[in-house]
Amino acid sequence: MATVTYEKASRIYPGSERPAVNELELQIGDGEFLVLVGPSGCGKSTSLRMLAGLEDVDRGRILINDKDVTHLPPKSRDIAMVFQNYALYPHMTVYENMAFALKLRKTPKAEIDRAVKEAAALLQLEEYLARKPKALSGGQRQRVAMGRAIVRQPQVFLMDEPLSNLDAKLRVQTRSQIATLQAKLGVTTVYVTHDQVEAMTMGHRVAVMLDGVLQQVDTPRALYDTPGNVFVAGFMGSPAMNIKTVSLTESGATFGALSVPLTREQVAAAQGGDGKVTIGFRPEAATVVTESADSLPIVVDLVEDLGSDANVYGHADLGGTSERFVVRTERRYMPHMGETVHIKPNPEAIHVFHAGTGVRI
Ligand SMILES: Nc1ncnc2c1ncn2[C@@H]1O[C@H](COP(=O)(O)OP(=O)(O)OP(=O)(O)O)[C@@H](O)[C@H]1O
Ligand SMILES: [Mg+2]
Repeated sequence: MATVTYEKASRIYPGSERPAVNELELQIGDGEFLVLVGPSGCGKSTSLRMLAGLEDVDRGRILINDKDVTHLPPKSRDIAMVFQNYALYPHMTVYENMAFALKLRKTPKAEIDRAVKEAAALLQLEEYLARKPKALSGGQRQRVAMGRAIVRQPQVFLMDEPLSNLDAKLRVQTRSQIATLQAKLGVTTVYVTHDQVEAMTMGHRVAVMLDGVLQQVDTPRALYDTPGNVFVAGFMGSPAMNIKTVSLTESGATFGALSVPLTREQVAAAQGGDGKVTIGFRPEAATVVTESADSLPIVVDLVEDLGSDANVYGHADLGGTSERFVVRTERRYMPHMGETVHIKPNPEAIHVFHAGTGVRI
């Protein structure tokens, strides 16, 4: 049973001026599966390593439950970490790999045996216990690394991109296995990935980072429906949201032939953006029609047929510049390359952001 609290925790690597993690404020609940997501170099691994005690915390604090662990060595924190490369001991069998941490702790042999066998059963590794890691598949190695963390019965699991060495199909399988296992064990988990699909499907809540700064933390659904800024809007969801900065008028925004009505409050909040406002709509939140006056004509560049539906990529001429758009269409209406189609975002599904700050309006 454990909660984790980052209190304005920062890490500034020696020789660099900008913090790799900048005043991170984050509370993780007991039993929660929290995913840290963001582009490469945004500070995900550093945040995790600070919690593990593998990286200094230069400012702020980190608590596990109510205990300040900021300056405790890793072994005193009661956490277990699963790394991207699994870091298995090559000369040890699966059994020995899983038993190792308990052996170091001088746990009685019978107890170690019980813990290893229990974890092996949970992870369907029973028939591989006598094998060395090199005689295992990638997915099996991944499960051994999980098993090694589980036998220690830590208060917190930390996982840094544990699926990135697996092929696409195995990754999808394993991601549901990890989520199921975490639910079963109920151990507070912090999971790092740069893959927004993993974040959306696995996390109870997702924390999105950019350049060392936490952008937003919320449930996957809330992040998708109400992204707090332009970065989160563009990062979560695939294909990405259509986001354009366009002219602001007294009653809304104009998108070529399309006008997007905004409330008086929204227009007021958009002021200071140099006469512009940023508008976004997701690919699935637009209707595609063959002809209509109040819609945006786009020329189709590419159609991705997904079987059940299709992603249609195209471009439109907006005030002299060519802007790219993507919309999702149903299977029964699939346009051809080079064809002109008309798109009309659903008014209730439009996201509005300040053109200067990028903050949601
Ligand atoms: N030991 C180090 N010394 C100096 N700078 C570092 C060190 N480790 C990481 N950094 C820098 O800190 C920033 C954050 O790195 P971090 O490894 O936390 O990113 P990440 O989000 O995990 O990225 P990725 O998705 O590529 O793993 C990066 O700019 C990186 O170059
Ligand atoms: Mg990393």
